[in-house]
Amino acid sequence: MNIILMGLPGAGKGTQAEKITEHFGMIHVSTGDMFRQAMSAKTELGKTAQNYIDQGHLVPDEVTNGIVKERLGQEDVKAKGFMLDGYPRTLNQAEALDQIVAQLNTNIDQVINIKVDPEILVNRLSGRFICRKCGATYHRVYNPPKVADTCDICGSHDFYQRDDDRPEVVRNRLKVNIEENTPLIAYYEKQGKLTNVDGSQAIDVVSQQIQEILKKV
Ligand code: AP5
Ligand code: MG
Repeated sequence: MNIILMGLPGAGKGTQAEKITEHFGMIHVSTGDMFRQAMSAKTELGKTAQNYIDQGHLVPDEVTNGIVKERLGQEDVKAKGFMLDGYPRTLNQAEALDQIVAQLNTNIDQVINIKVDPEILVNRLSGRFICRKCGATYHRVYNPPKVADTCDICGSHDFYQRDDDRPEVVRNRLKVNIEENTPLIAYYEKQGKLTNVDGSQAIDVVSQQIQEILKKV
């Protein structure tokens, strides 16, 4: 099964992708995670991406399309399918993705758009923290670890906040993504593939609704 998970910054793409891929077995492909890994490894890709990400701008399409094409062509994704998180984000990327999947002799089964009022999102991003060891995502108020300062998944006590979650960067990320979002939504609506989910509900309620949609695919 090949799924696209759309949503503005902080809508819950990563949180839901972790749960849904665990349940359905497809591979979680997050362009944001790929850029952050490249940034911490200080590769050429990481250095390029950092200049954009630090300011809340999108990384240029040709760079992003290239890393997605490479990742979707790998054996694990070909065998298990994918859940794209944060890609495509522009019309150009959506068209490039259509070509990539055609070359791989596959297709997109469903596009899920997690809808949340932008006013809620600033609060979500400022309260987010992430386990440095395994990458699990938490929120100070809405999704704290079961035992304080201890990761539910791996037991680590080492957490960090993303540099691009600073309020001034968040404002720009939201602006850029809202602008790009409308034509993308129209693109997938026209293809009859888009389903909206109300992402302002509790995390488990959102997961349940996404699972119900995917069971019908
Ligand atoms: P990326 O890492 O994808 O960032 P983003 O799109 O801004 O999305 P986030 O990861 O911030 O939010 P999320 O929706 O995953 O929310 P989460 O589940 O963590 O991209 C980073 C940057 O890379 C971009 O700005 C851009 O520069 C570049 N980039 C990436 N892809 C690109 C592309 N395709 N083209 C060009 N550039 C690209 O949840 C957020 C918080 O809310 C957490 O604390 C969580 O615990 C909490 N939460 C989640 N769900 C709920 C809920 N239902 N109720 C209450 N709290 C909740
Ligand atoms: Mg994310």
